Amino acid sequence: MSMWLDERKARLDKLISKADQEFPLLRVVHLDEFLFLNLQNSTWSYMEASAQLGSTEGPYILDGVNKPPNMTPGGLLAVRQETWPEYNALHREMVKTLQSMGLLDKMVEAQLPLCVRVVTPKMAEDPKRLERPYNTFVAHSDIWSGQPTDMLHIWIPIYGDFNRVGIEYSEPEYFPEDCQHKFESYADVMPKTVAEGAKKYDAKIDVGNAYISDGTCLHKTVAAGRGNRGRITLDFRFRLRDGKYSEWHPEYVDIKEWKATGVTRAFVEGRKAIGWADQ
Ligand SMILES: [Fe+2]
Repeated sequence: MSMWLDERKARLDKLISKADQEFPLLRVVHLDEFLFLNLQNSTWSYMEASAQLGSTEGPYILDGVNKPPNMTPGGLLAVRQETWPEYNALHREMVKTLQSMGLLDKMVEAQLPLCVRVVTPKMAEDPKRLERPYNTFVAHSDIWSGQPTDMLHIWIPIYGDFNRVGIEYSEPEYFPEDCQHKFESYADVMPKTVAEGAKKYDAKIDVGNAYISDGTCLHKTVAAGRGNRGRITLDFRFRLRDGKYSEWHPEYVDIKEWKATGVTRAFVEGRKAIGWADQ
């Protein structure tokens, strides 16, 4: 095993002591049923609030036809002033879930807001989407789209058929330092070389699990079949207290602030947060 892989694996071992499936750069943890139901319900409320922004017909987001106005081209449901109460309620449930997993105390910074993401098989056929420089349908590391080199990622499937629209994780054979930075596009030559010899992880993708991966773990969206029925997931990136790497990144906030969101602070819109106590 190379130095890089050894180090990254050891870091994940320290973070997650018990996993249901274990790979050097990925851990699969089955979530407490009650906490997961709360995540599902609060995601549903957030989707409903998003759907109401553009339609009077209800939350038909998963059919990929009625797209709410807060959906970005990448499928993210962005937080708007009209949807902040639902966002903060959902964030609070995520905080509880992470606390139960013992993860929160080990984090130093996390991405705010967390990502509520919709993907439909139809998106995989959209040429405009496939031409995007950071097209998630090809194997990539988020470091290549400008995320910090030390980051980790947590991904939680919420609704949908994950056999049809899932995610595929893989381990690169090597991850040299000259690949640990932002590229203009995932199609650029160095990342491609890294992705070529990658070993696919046989991870079971299903609702009720959380997937915690190292920033160097390659992943891609997979969409089998055709049609509109897709999936909705929660995810965000975070950094650990080990302090080994420390470049500043505008999407991350101190974990104290992240933890207080939905409790004593509210995330309102874009990157704005207000402290309730200050108002
Ligand atoms: Fe990614």
